[in-house]
Amino acid sequence: MYDFKPAAATAPQALYRDLLAAAEALTADEPDGIANMANVAALLWEFLPDLNWAGFYRVAPDKVGAGAELVLGPFVGRPACIRIPFGRGVCGAAAESRATQLVEDVHAFPGHIACDAASASELVVPVIRDGAVVAVIDLDSPSPARFTEDDAEGIEALAALLADRI
Ligand code: SME
Repeated sequence: MYDFKPAAATAPQALYRDLLAAAEALTADEPDGIANMANVAALLWEFLPDLNWAGFYRVAPDKVGAGAELVLGPFVGRPACIRIPFGRGVCGAAAESRATQLVEDVHAFPGHIACDAASASELVVPVIRDGAVVAVIDLDSPSPARFTEDDAEGIEALAALLADRI
């Protein structure tokens, strides 16, 4: 049995340190990327308060190069859009630019794709392997401006850990 849980009232740095340690332990010996994304989605949900969606979009193996797309991966939350072209919405912007997107107000983000009307803010971090995006980690919150630079740094560290494990 796994029993990874955040300590109560943990400051962001300690929270992400514990989250990364749990993700490292859960994925270290498993070569299946889908299994690892599924467990990490569950960890994100367990560790991070005030989320309504946490998970992955993978670069679709059938759509690379021109016309590249993301396809829905393991997640926790409500059913979501399945395919997102590079450059569309917050996820597509992260995939195309290879840069973290920290969006305080999704309604002010041009082209934001509303999968859940409850989402108010969003953090999307690309997972980069050998210079290419292979997936993005997507977190949604019902609270405006839920995510901070601490969250961006924590999820970027998680993305670096997972780059060759998913
Ligand atoms: N809002 C995202 C779409 C994915 S859902 O949030 C799960 C976007 O604009 O790319």
